[in-house]
Amino acid sequence: MKFFIDTANLDDIREAYELGVLDGVTTNPSLMAKEGITGADNIKAHYKAICNIVDDNVSAEVISTDFDGMIKEAHELVKIDDKIVVKIPMIKDGVKAIKHLTDEGIRTNCTLVFSAGQAILAAKAGASYVSPFIGRLDDVSTDGMELISQICNIYDNYGYETEVLAASIRHVMHLIQCAEIGADVVTCPLNVITGLLKHPLTDIGLEKFLADYNKGNS
Ligand code: G3P
Repeated sequence: MKFFIDTANLDDIREAYELGVLDGVTTNPSLMAKEGITGADNIKAHYKAICNIVDDNVSAEVISTDFDGMIKEAHELVKIDDKIVVKIPMIKDGVKAIKHLTDEGIRTNCTLVFSAGQAILAAKAGASYVSPFIGRLDDVSTDGMELISQICNIYDNYGYETEVLAASIRHVMHLIQCAEIGADVVTCPLNVITGLLKHPLTDIGLEKFLADYNKGNS
């Protein structure tokens, strides 16, 4: 399973990368705004800064909602760096844009996916990644994890190459359940990745090992 970090914060991206387990980064306009990055040129420069940290897979989202606008933006985004994957919303023109960009050999991540039907369309259009949002479904009393399971089963049935990128992950158990189901990728904030490290018995065990070592060597 690939680990992506879901942030535009350069310090968090560096920290996850230095841990040695990071396979990519996802961003969206809200995450950019959270870092105070506004204006097309600043946003492009920020994508470049992210690409300079990681090895591959930097999702950069288009703002246009019409086919021509999305294609134009996608072409500009991929010029920033070979590591860019163009993030396209699951709307009618978005599906057309994914098909067009796939035919051109440009990688896409279909975002804002909330149903199995939408995920089928993304795969049929040839998206490199599909991003179902777990947490936002949970927020409206719908089982987000059930959607991950459904999409993985459907893609397995037909051998679709689109990778299931579980997004809107809010806590460690979301990530672990995605791994049990077999999601190809999880994207989550730094605290979820580092949260995997934590176990009180590890801390207690280490403290005792070190104390016993020091007894023997004092
Ligand atoms: O990857 C999509 C993600 O950024 C959405 O997360 O927590 O805003 O639902 P959240």
